[in-house]
Amino acid sequence: MYTEPMLKEGSLKDQVIVVTGGGSGLGKAMSTYFLELGAHVVITSRNIEKLEKAKQELEEKTGGTVLAVQCDVRNYTEVEAVLQATLDKFGKVDGLLNNAAGNFISPTERLSANAFDTVIDIVLKGSKNCTLAFGKHWIDIKQPKSTILNIVTTYAWTGSAYVVPSATAKAGVLAMTRSLAVEWAKYGIRSNAIAPGPFPTEGAWDRLLPGNLKDKFDMKKKVPVGRVGEHQELANLAAYLMSDFSAYINGEVITIDGGEWLKGAGEFNMLEDIPKEMWDMLEMMIRSKKK
Ligand code: HXC
Ligand code: NAP
Repeated sequence: MYTEPMLKEGSLKDQVIVVTGGGSGLGKAMSTYFLELGAHVVITSRNIEKLEKAKQELEEKTGGTVLAVQCDVRNYTEVEAVLQATLDKFGKVDGLLNNAAGNFISPTERLSANAFDTVIDIVLKGSKNCTLAFGKHWIDIKQPKSTILNIVTTYAWTGSAYVVPSATAKAGVLAMTRSLAVEWAKYGIRSNAIAPGPFPTEGAWDRLLPGNLKDKFDMKKKVPVGRVGEHQELANLAAYLMSDFSAYINGEVITIDGGEWLKGAGEFNMLEDIPKEMWDMLEMMIRSKKK
């Protein structure tokens, strides 16, 4: 069921949605579903060959229209050019999905200042650049309705060792999401976020679980529901948050992680490892302490 498309046909009909990092991984999966629901999609990233290939694949699969635009989200001028190219092609833009990211595992003390900056610049500054350019446009033309959707992670609020630049940047994106949800609601701009748990993609797995770390740290074992995420279930949530069905949701961050971060957080969650048969004995031991 959760691998199936969820929204009814035409839920995003004629919507124009820009997806940063839309040529691979989760960005591509979400773009695919937006197209299937009737949207026109602009995919952007640094690698135009990859984007052109993805455009062809997505158009063949969905019958929709895709515009591929090269853009490094760290560069504000390039972001403004994406906005212009979108307006030139489709005449309007309705949604921005800030999905592009950079990340890799490393002990923080091994990072150069530039390494730290690189992740902050892609994730935080990149999301800021797109949000500012598109937000200014929507406010200028008094567009009645538009949507910003940011992809963060659950460690945006818990923090996480070994991915400190990413955690720092995603926390900033989360603060921006909630701040603008209030400030820009008067302009008809909704601002929400999704915090995914583990959803295998080449981009993330190669940088976060290189070599045999994939086998050493089985991500499924960290998740109470016992599996990693399916791209379609994330796409379902993203499409809902992009669509008018979620018109009353603003400033929200929705976690989709099978309970993963809470499993890591609860003080006594390690008792999951106690076999069922042991509970009689444990109860007896506790009760025997009653004075
Ligand atoms: C230490 C590193 C490094 C590493 C790069 N650097 N890799 N330092 N360990 N593994 C340093 C470089 O030496 C350089 O610093 C600086 O970082 C910039 O590196 P460049 O290669 O020049 O940068 P760039 O070409 O811009 O590439 C950016 C990148 C790369 C982030 C380093 O990995 C990338 O392009 N990533 C995009 C896709 C991605 O990361 N996807 C995963 C998202 S997953 P010096 O000082 O030498 O100049 C995600 C999910 C999280 O976010 C949650 C999962 C559950
Ligand atoms: P991915 O395929 O590596 O996606 C990252 C995308 O960002 C790529 O398409 C990349 O394209 C683009 N990008 C990177 N730097 C850019 C830049 N400077 N300018 C423009 N585009 C840039 O990894 P993913 O797993 O799908 O990640 C997608 C999003 O989900 C990210 O925000 C990530 O933090 C989030 N997330 C993923 C997981 C997971 O388990 N996969 C979990 C939590 C959150 P180019 O290289 O062509 O530029």
